[in-house]
Amino acid sequence: MKTTQLDQSTADPNAQPCIGVFDSGVGGLSVLRALHLRLPLAPMVYVGDVSHAPYGERPVAQVLDRCERIVGYLQEQGARIIVVACNTATVLGISHLRRQWPTLTFVGVEPGIKPAAAHSRTRRIAVMTTPTTAASERLRQLIADHAVGFLVHVVPCHGLATVIERGTIRGPGLLDALRPFCDRVREADVDTLVLGCTHYSFVADTIRSLLGEEVNLIDTASAIAARVASLWSGSGAVTDAVAVVRVRSTGSIDTMRLLLALCPGLLETAVERLAI
Ligand code: DGL
Repeated sequence: MKTTQLDQSTADPNAQPCIGVFDSGVGGLSVLRALHLRLPLAPMVYVGDVSHAPYGERPVAQVLDRCERIVGYLQEQGARIIVVACNTATVLGISHLRRQWPTLTFVGVEPGIKPAAAHSRTRRIAVMTTPTTAASERLRQLIADHAVGFLVHVVPCHGLATVIERGTIRGPGLLDALRPFCDRVREADVDTLVLGCTHYSFVADTIRSLLGEEVNLIDTASAIAARVASLWSGSGAVTDAVAVVRVRSTGSIDTMRLLLALCPGLLETAVERLAI
């Protein structure tokens, strides 16, 4: 792992201060949606690293390299707060990014084990997540910190983020992709399911239809948005300038457009390609 500190204040001094948000692809738009609902006047720049998704099935060194490039770009664009809108990148890389950019504020997205434990009456919880997050020390630690005495059934969902990344967010193709994972959740007889990947928020209704209304779904997007709102209002970066949300993709823009159409207030947002 590199030790060179990358925080060289490369931000364009004329850049409007903004909130940077990134994910391996389209999943983080579920977090951007919650952020924009909470902070409709805040400028934001979103990067979906579509050409490198899914992170959850790539070597750690490559994910860290991609995260560094994206954070460098977001800093140039004026980002003061960076939301790592990807559980996989958070568990693999947020500590590394904090060390590399000590003057930026990073907010990560992690599987909501704590709220799940607070909601569960039967003390039986499942977590659907990428294989990398499922195998991570950070998830093990979250369970040890917040769910002692609970059964926590972790379901690694190999390939599911890719299905969503391709734009399959409803219909028979999605049902076929989800069924094996939801079957494992049902067999575990839980009352609470953590959506431990930001992509899965866009298919929450179909997951609910497969599991039944009695299983509570936990998505941390609005809790993250509340946290970012409090940091943003205390950052001194809030201005009267007209806020713009900019969305960038390092690959295809088709699924981004499809999912932005599901985000109130962001329906008309243009998506531009970004080569980094
Ligand atoms: N959206 C990412 C997450 O929350 C996962 C997708 C990926 O594997 O890249 O973990």
